[in-house]
Amino acid sequence: MKKKISIAIDGPSAAGKSTIAKMVAKKENFIYIDTGAMYRSVAFYCIKNHIDLNDEQAVEQAISNIQIRLTADNKVYLNDEDVSLQIRTDEVSLGASCVSKYQAVRTFLVDEQRKVAETGNVILDGRDIGTVVLPHADLKIYQIASVETRAKRRYLENKERGLEADLETIKKEIEQRDYQDMHRAISPLKKADDAIELDTSNMTLEEVVDQVLTLINKTREE
Ligand code: DC
Repeated sequence: MKKKISIAIDGPSAAGKSTIAKMVAKKENFIYIDTGAMYRSVAFYCIKNHIDLNDEQAVEQAISNIQIRLTADNKVYLNDEDVSLQIRTDEVSLGASCVSKYQAVRTFLVDEQRKVAETGNVILDGRDIGTVVLPHADLKIYQIASVETRAKRRYLENKERGLEADLETIKKEIEQRDYQDMHRAISPLKKADDAIELDTSNMTLEEVVDQVLTLINKTREE
């Protein structure tokens, strides 16, 4: 039987991780897990139910009412409601960064992520995949890009999705999330020692995908 392969892509906000992971998963027929969408779903649930995101106990209590399902066509279901688009607003982005600092939230979501990761060839993207969720991943990538590049990409993406978009606001939101995600006490964003850094600032999508595919093929040969 062929060995199952697991790939971890970590990096700061809006570095294009999920776009790349989705494209690679499609080409290689891997299961893709957008872990950020799971943190976003928790934040969205709390916002919708008027739960104060800064109240750790209240957020912890809310978890027992939350079921998240990611589908093969990259839709996100929160308690059977399709929230794929609603979790992409700036408010939910910052909310996700806020709730992601709580241990109970991380334990709940990391367990879910590991369960799915056991089911086949997988590619996960997030902040703590190579360091915490799958420390033994076969391939770890740390994908970065300048904040200007990331803000511009997110701006275009939001416009395409029909969401409100203002470049300066997006840039500020990205910087704030980078800071929060890198400085929290539990599972902060950092490059795993054995991760390969990929600076995509001056690369096209196709170039990044090619590079990742090359790295996967190398991993298979090892
Ligand atoms: O990848 P994203 O932008 O959709 O993630 C939203 C937030 O969720 C991010 O700012 C921090 C948090 N997150 C996390 O703490 N750990 C992950 N593995 C993925 C996301």
